[in-house]
Amino acid sequence: MSTRAIHVADGVAAAPREPSPEEAPALHARGLSLWYGARRVLDAIDLAVPARRITALIGPSGCGKSSLLRCLNRLNDEIDGARVEGDVRLGETDVYAPDAVVHELRRRVGIVFQRPNPFPLSIHDNVAYGLRLLGVRSRHVLDERVEAALRAAALWDEVASRLDDGALGLSLGQQQRLVIARAIAVEPDVLMLDEPASALDPAATLRFEELLHELARRYTLLLVTHNMQQAARVSDFTAFMHAGRLVEFGDTDALFTNPRERQTEDFITGRYG
Ligand SMILES: Nc1ncnc2c1ncn2[C@@H]1O[C@H](COP(=O)(O)OP(=O)(O)OP(=O)(O)O)[C@@H](O)[C@H]1O
Ligand SMILES: [Mg+2]
Repeated sequence: MSTRAIHVADGVAAAPREPSPEEAPALHARGLSLWYGARRVLDAIDLAVPARRITALIGPSGCGKSSLLRCLNRLNDEIDGARVEGDVRLGETDVYAPDAVVHELRRRVGIVFQRPNPFPLSIHDNVAYGLRLLGVRSRHVLDERVEAALRAAALWDEVASRLDDGALGLSLGQQQRLVIARAIAVEPDVLMLDEPASALDPAATLRFEELLHELARRYTLLLVTHNMQQAARVSDFTAFMHAGRLVEFGDTDALFTNPRERQTEDFITGRYG
């Protein structure tokens, strides 16, 4: 999208985003299928997620959006009876290689869910959590990285004076930014967001969308949203899924103004879903 305002948050290096369509995709799924038991819920998905862009993932409820995200960082490993076929590359890394280090994959591909899920710890310790798991022990380094992540998530100014307070005392919108700070503290390559703004009011949603633009300067974002206006406003590319298949992928402006597939058109014009 070309005409949107870019808001510059504190602490985020405002390096210009180079338009580089030849850049290798950050994440690339090929022939990706998923079964839960005998039921196939993803059907040979081919999706190349462009690096340092916002890709929206849209489609009717139950079409497999959350399942696809879970395949991309192997959260499906945790689900009994889930079976994956196909190929997923994170940069050069084969995500499903037998020797893949799953916790490292999950560091590189962070996920933020619809309901913010801060841990029952202090604000500081929520953001420091992943860093501690990575073995960062120095209080000084932790403090620095926590501050940088909170600034990047546009939350620092609201919490700087109360980092030791419990995270559960934050408002919903603050908790959502806290879990984003927690996800980016470990410097992921890709940040997946599964309907992250659905619990926010309209003003908080607009601020949140500005934050997404800021984050896309440094990270690859894959955003599931039920809100067509939001997909059209914030994303550079849009993927439309239906019944486990990726029906259409393209530049967001083109997909919304001139969809190639009838199913896409029906969905974005609200005829179903
Ligand atoms: N853990 C699970 N075990 C078995 N089936 C599941 C599981 N999780 C999801 N499913 C099924 O897989 C299909 C895809 O679900 P998924 O949650 O990925 O859809 P979605 O597109 O994210 O929907 P929504 O927009 O409502 O969040 C659905 O039919 C769902 O019932
Ligand atoms: Mg879902």
